[in-house]
Amino acid sequence: MLKTFSFGLVLLAMPLLALAQTAAARFDEGSKVFRLDGGNTSYVFGVNARGELQQLYWGGRLGATDSFPQARPAIEWASFDSSYTNTPQEYAGWGGGLFNEPALKVTFADGNRDLVLHYESHTETTDGFDVVLKDIKQPIYVTLHYSIDAQSGILARSATIENRGTDAVTVEQAAAAAWALPASRYTLNYLTGRWAGEWTLTQETVHPGARVLESRRGSTGHQANPWFAIQAGEADENHGEVWFGALGWSGSWRITVEQDQLDAVRVTGGFNPFDFGYVLKAGAKLETPVFYGGYSAHGLGGVSRLLHRYELEHILPRTQATVGQPLPKVRPVIYNSWEATEFRVNEAGQIALAEKAAALGVDRFVMDDGWFGQRKDDHAGLGDWYVNQEKFPHGLKPLIDKVHALGMDFGLWVEPEMVNPDSDLYRKHPDWVLHFPGRPESEQRNQLVLNLARPDVRDYVLGFLDKILTDNDIAFLKWDYNRNWSEPGWDQLPAAEQKRVYVDFTQNLYGILSDLRKKHPNVEIESCSGGGGRVDLGILRYTDEVWPSDNTDPFDRLSQQDGFSYAYTPQVMMDWVTDSPHWLNKRATSVSYRMLSSMQGSLGIGANIANWTPEEAALAKRLIAAYHQVQPTIVQGDLYRLISPRNGSEFSATQTVNHDKSQSVIFAFIHSTQKGRTFPTLKLKGLDPAAQYALTPIEGKPREGSPVVASGAWWMNHGLDLTEDFRGDFQAAAFRLDRK
Ligand code: DGJ
Repeated sequence: MLKTFSFGLVLLAMPLLALAQTAAARFDEGSKVFRLDGGNTSYVFGVNARGELQQLYWGGRLGATDSFPQARPAIEWASFDSSYTNTPQEYAGWGGGLFNEPALKVTFADGNRDLVLHYESHTETTDGFDVVLKDIKQPIYVTLHYSIDAQSGILARSATIENRGTDAVTVEQAAAAAWALPASRYTLNYLTGRWAGEWTLTQETVHPGARVLESRRGSTGHQANPWFAIQAGEADENHGEVWFGALGWSGSWRITVEQDQLDAVRVTGGFNPFDFGYVLKAGAKLETPVFYGGYSAHGLGGVSRLLHRYELEHILPRTQATVGQPLPKVRPVIYNSWEATEFRVNEAGQIALAEKAAALGVDRFVMDDGWFGQRKDDHAGLGDWYVNQEKFPHGLKPLIDKVHALGMDFGLWVEPEMVNPDSDLYRKHPDWVLHFPGRPESEQRNQLVLNLARPDVRDYVLGFLDKILTDNDIAFLKWDYNRNWSEPGWDQLPAAEQKRVYVDFTQNLYGILSDLRKKHPNVEIESCSGGGGRVDLGILRYTDEVWPSDNTDPFDRLSQQDGFSYAYTPQVMMDWVTDSPHWLNKRATSVSYRMLSSMQGSLGIGANIANWTPEEAALAKRLIAAYHQVQPTIVQGDLYRLISPRNGSEFSATQTVNHDKSQSVIFAFIHSTQKGRTFPTLKLKGLDPAAQYALTPIEGKPREGSPVVASGAWWMNHGLDLTEDFRGDFQAAAFRLDRK
């Protein structure tokens, strides 16, 4: 049974995208082997003689006629290292002789906890397979969903767990997928951080034992992000084999990277099993999140280029205006009021800022926190989503009309899942927050978390958001979420069922976002959680952009943006230019440096522009105009991290190339020149060697005598030299190359 599917036809309508790749899914009846091919990747698994679903291969694409013999369980290495635990199962139940991380662990009504999942049947889907496993005795069915992307070879895997018995079963651990790698020497890459310090690329050798990446916080978290990349041997930014994955879940999650006693490596990820317990009643199903996984033979750079394109083409939502388009539209250049006015927003002040923003060439004006309820600071108002009459005596309309008259659209800040105890909402519904009855409710930023799992809370949140969007001409919501969970009780439900809050909360969040987008199909939404606390491939199905960090220091942002870019496309990475000296590090930088740092992603201005000098405003205006011209290349092109800003690097540089290789944009930054060192020659990448490209400075100068027009081969082999004067502290330059 062979099924091939290709995006060749679709690509005729998308000339900007690269060559068509085909995908194929086939099942060999004789050997019971499943094979998925896409991009430069093949993924193979089969049913072994015991009936287990066993992974056989994940790596570079194999020949179309290559075949696999039937899967054979691993040998029993010793009585302590049995075949059951050594065999790399696609989705292992905890039972039999399994000691590794299970994908699924349950307790049956009679206390029995043995779960052994064997192959039952499968069906073909449009781009892969649904494979059904069943416990060897009990009517617990698990359908594993596999689909492969023709272009990138990225697999989307998830599981549906179904109780077809008559008694309830408690699911204590449920992964979306488990991935297996052969025994080898590996380096694990993952992203860690904290508030105002997200997106540190952490790299370490994979050792025997388990490395657990997780959030127990009810949401994705700043501290670790659900993404991993595992490099083989000497792989680096540009070369070598890397296996990677990203979990699409915005609730508590866990990814376990395990090297077993025989050196084989497995990665298992899904709902965080900590405090987990989902009661599956007779006939009920539990859908896991999706765990995306892929393979690159071109180092970590190859990983991020595959992920970026996959996110643009397959994850990010479309507005009505861009439905059916291959890519979402680039983000408008925004102005945001937060760092300028904090909670002190009012009609006159916001209009004054809007006038300044429009004069710079900004596309969207966003009013941040402070416009609603009795909100004067962070002690009150969350939950009361009516316009504050003192600050906006005529409602939001005069401000919105003015913003439109200035040629911009309007965006508004909300924090829908939160409530201040000092609010009408909390006084009326104190039982709506996550809490354990009779226990203290731990406040953070003077606020509590509404239990979005409750149907009445879900309806309330959807209702007020719908009303705001219906009553006002609003193009964009900045959706904030400024604390993590505590006391995650849900006392409406019987005691045994209360832990389903971990699933229902996040599913309701997705449901609200989805309903809002259906009802207001042109509204765009940003996922913000005090910066980058809720960035993952789950929320990105429903939101158009994210706020990576409350840290807007342009130097810190270089390494944060570098870390972010390993997992997520620059299209969703909002970067504001804010004031100097910066509030966090007290570092002073020029407007030029700040602008270029922010132009590496989706540009915004968040400074108090009322205080800018005419010269600073003129520079920002010129650079916003230059950015508008090349923005699709920067945020939707192929990214090459030429010099990393990590590890105290004196220099850093990035380059993006659009998909038809007709344009490239280069950014270069100096932290602090030492010993008169000149900026290294930038050997560019990804260009057409035979084409001629003209160099245009956006900011800064090339070295005197450098060619203005040269071949792609020149720029890639000889490279781009910057002027010898490019020295000093916090210096920045940017250039564009256009095919002649
Ligand atoms: C946290 C966000 O990250 C900031 O940008 C700002 O919106 C504040 N919340 C407002 O309270």
